[in-house]
Amino acid sequence: MFSKVFTFLLVAFIGQILADPSIDSKPTGMSEDLKLMELMMYQSKSGENMECFSVYLPILQEVDTQYKIDYTKCWTDRQSGASAIEERYSEPRSNLSSTAYDICGPLLECEQKDSETQSVFECYEKVGTEKSTPLNNLTLDGAQLAREIAEDFRRIDIIADACYAESYRTYSNDRNDAQARLEDCLANGLSETVTTIMN
Ligand SMILES: *[C@@H]1O[C@H](CO)[C@@H](O)[C@H](O)[C@H]1NC(C)=O
Ligand SMILES: *[C@@H]1O[C@H](CO)[C@@H](O)[C@H](O)[C@H]1NC(C)=O
Repeated sequence: MFSKVFTFLLVAFIGQILADPSIDSKPTGMSEDLKLMELMMYQSKSGENMECFSVYLPILQEVDTQYKIDYTKCWTDRQSGASAIEERYSEPRSNLSSTAYDICGPLLECEQKDSETQSVFECYEKVGTEKSTPLNNLTLDGAQLAREIAEDFRRIDIIADACYAESYRTYSNDRNDAQARLEDCLANGLSETVTTIMN
């Protein structure tokens, strides 16, 4: 009876490991599964206290699931932060873009197929002089906005890094705790362990 439950849980557990929900938002640091499987293999030979698995595997899975939820929340918050930054700079961006057209368009128009060479040269001189201040402004505006947007991204990255670190801290604490209780249960039996937890 217990071995059936055990087999079911082991299969479900391996399925969980192999299932890869999303490459980009995949939590990092979930590497303790092999140790747990070793423990399961080892214990299945002795056959002792197998009921511990049916109690603690769901708890461990719950811890893993919670970590995936927390980690994904950090990831989606970072994504929407990035979208908000893109949104915030879309007007300055299209303004600079139209400024670039205003500067380059008239210069490119100097070269007319039918016009005299002399007048083309004079056009470059005239338009180039007119556009040198706007071009200088475009350069300075581009530099300024590049600094601002880099600072905005840096800010959301700091928040995201703290979020990832916090979700991992919670995960590894809960995971270590549940695993220690499982190992205790495997060594001492379920009733012993429950009594210990109650105290
Ligand atoms: C963009 O250009 C429009 C129209 O010239 C102007 O009203 C607006 O203030 C500009 N926005 C920015 C962020 O430069
Ligand atoms: C260039 O920038 C200066 C200072 O911001 C501004 O006063 C001037 O109107 C701008 N000139 C052009 C042609 O964009």
